[in-house]
Amino acid sequence: MFKFLKELPKVELHAHLNGSLNTNSLRDLAEKVYGNTSEEFSQLCARFVDFEKDSNLDKCFEKFAFVHELTSTAEGLQYATELVIRDFANDNIQYLELRTTPKANNNYLRRDYLRIVLDTIKKGREKYPNILVKLLPSINRSEPVAVAEETVALAVEFAKTDPDLVVGIDLSGNPAQGKFTDFSGALNLARKEGLKLVIHCAEIDNTSEIKEMLAFGMSRCGHGTYLSSEDIAHMKAADIPIECCLTSNVKSGTVSSFEEHHLKQLMEADAPKVVCTDDSGVFDTTLTNELLLVAETFNLTRDHCIDLTMEAVKHSFANDEERQQMALKVEHYVNSLKSE
Ligand code: IMP
Ligand code: ZN
Repeated sequence: MFKFLKELPKVELHAHLNGSLNTNSLRDLAEKVYGNTSEEFSQLCARFVDFEKDSNLDKCFEKFAFVHELTSTAEGLQYATELVIRDFANDNIQYLELRTTPKANNNYLRRDYLRIVLDTIKKGREKYPNILVKLLPSINRSEPVAVAEETVALAVEFAKTDPDLVVGIDLSGNPAQGKFTDFSGALNLARKEGLKLVIHCAEIDNTSEIKEMLAFGMSRCGHGTYLSSEDIAHMKAADIPIECCLTSNVKSGTVSSFEEHHLKQLMEADAPKVVCTDDSGVFDTTLTNELLLVAETFNLTRDHCIDLTMEAVKHSFANDEERQQMALKVEHYVNSLKSE
């Protein structure tokens, strides 16, 4: 099963740039940023080893802060973007929707941040021709609304020049911080301008916010851990898929075990769902591993895994032609196995 899943041309729809740097890539990056003999590099490595033991949501957010230090220069950010594309390509991801929160510091403005990531994605097309990458700028709900407004304005502007590359807006960040309704104005503007919305929703138990988010609407739902049976029925009726990230949820402590993951409920309800990594670096996983985990936990066959991949093709923000190409790649792969 592992070989079958590894070689399957997969589709990743929920991946945060800074969360997708795996240990090796972080070391490569730290070496590039600080040099491998510097004191900073040794200190960073020691701190990273410390993080390996964590398993709650707050600890995970500390780990993001650590990664952000390494991508706080233009060179670091550019190299990180390249490494992330390389790692997904090595896992045979044929299509990747990458999200990232534009940041501003002494080295770059939010506009520069997005430009660097976009340029690196474009440059990566030559080096990694088998992976098609799209970008969704993220709003961090623990930052001020003015930052969200700036992010939306930039996303709209960049989408005008690159409509096939900047396809949507993500709302993420620590779910215990910020208030959804504060961001609905900015999100609405993005939607009016034709951007798709992916919203981290029901990651923690917050009934009133879940109601607000579902009433507001979205193209895809991140996590959906605390959706009720009625909410799931609503998602099914509206054909809104739930992005299921098993390792992320269990390691960050929002779901108690793989067996109890709500993906089971979604499959039983025949509700739309996609299997994703969320933060493959921070949670030390890959999409191959996530599909294997799902197959082993819920006794899925190869055909089920193909169906899950085709569901991801359907719910991607690729255009019709790109989706057709993606489906064809999966079909060719399946046919190549039959003739073996
Ligand atoms: P970045 O946007 O590229 O910096 O990716 C890391 C950021 O994504 C984190 O700092 C969070 O704001 C967000 N993020 C990653 N995983 C999660 C999650 O599971 N829930 C909410 N936000 C997340
Ligand atoms: Zn996420």
